[in-house]
Amino acid sequence: MTYRPRICPFHRLIEQVPQNSTVLDVGCGNGLWLLLLAELGRIRQGIGFDICAEKVRLAQELAGPNRSLSFRPIAVNEAWPDMAADCVTMIDIIHHIHPERQKETIRAIQSTHAERILIKDIDPVPAWKSAANTLHDLVLSGQRPRYQSPSVLCEWLGEIGYEIRVCLRCDMLWYSHYLIVGQKPAKP
Ligand SMILES: C[S@@+](CC[C@H](N)C(=O)[O-])C[C@H]1O[C@@H](n2cnc3c(N)ncnc32)[C@H](O)[C@@H]1O
Repeated sequence: MTYRPRICPFHRLIEQVPQNSTVLDVGCGNGLWLLLLAELGRIRQGIGFDICAEKVRLAQELAGPNRSLSFRPIAVNEAWPDMAADCVTMIDIIHHIHPERQKETIRAIQSTHAERILIKDIDPVPAWKSAANTLHDLVLSGQRPRYQSPSVLCEWLGEIGYEIRVCLRCDMLWYSHYLIVGQKPAKP
């Protein structure tokens, strides 16, 4: 957790979260992202969920008595928490999901009615950079990552009604990050 802000572009992600919003963080891990947003006074409420109960327990412990944050474990095939979120965030989760299930994970965003979606993941290109991240994931989580290209994610978001406002690279050290911001068009 201490070193993650040095390799993950949280500073670029924060500015994309609407001020005072309710954020649903998919695959929240140990809660670092929501804790950061709450500490900066960026959000009104944050709910994180993850399939790893141990990480969720740590997130709950770190949040302590902070009533604006809650974290819960969910099983892989369980429905997402039933809540209306302004903004859904997915930071480094897509490459931990099997390619056959990545599209349905993106489509699940629809259940939240969120106006904004923020995705940060690892670009498969160039190969040497994604190989460096593969090594990182194999060592730290024992999982082989399954990268998806940003253009495919943008296409899937378009299919569920999001306009792509931002799609950019923001590499840090040897990590090939991309950031996507999708927004529901304003109602006439
Ligand atoms: C690389 S970690 C990122 C954690 C956190 N988002 C962060 O940026 O610090 C990926 C997380 O996704 C979680 N995960 C993988 N598949 C998931 C799924 N289908 N639903 C929810 N969480 C999932 C893993 O348990 C893991 O905690």
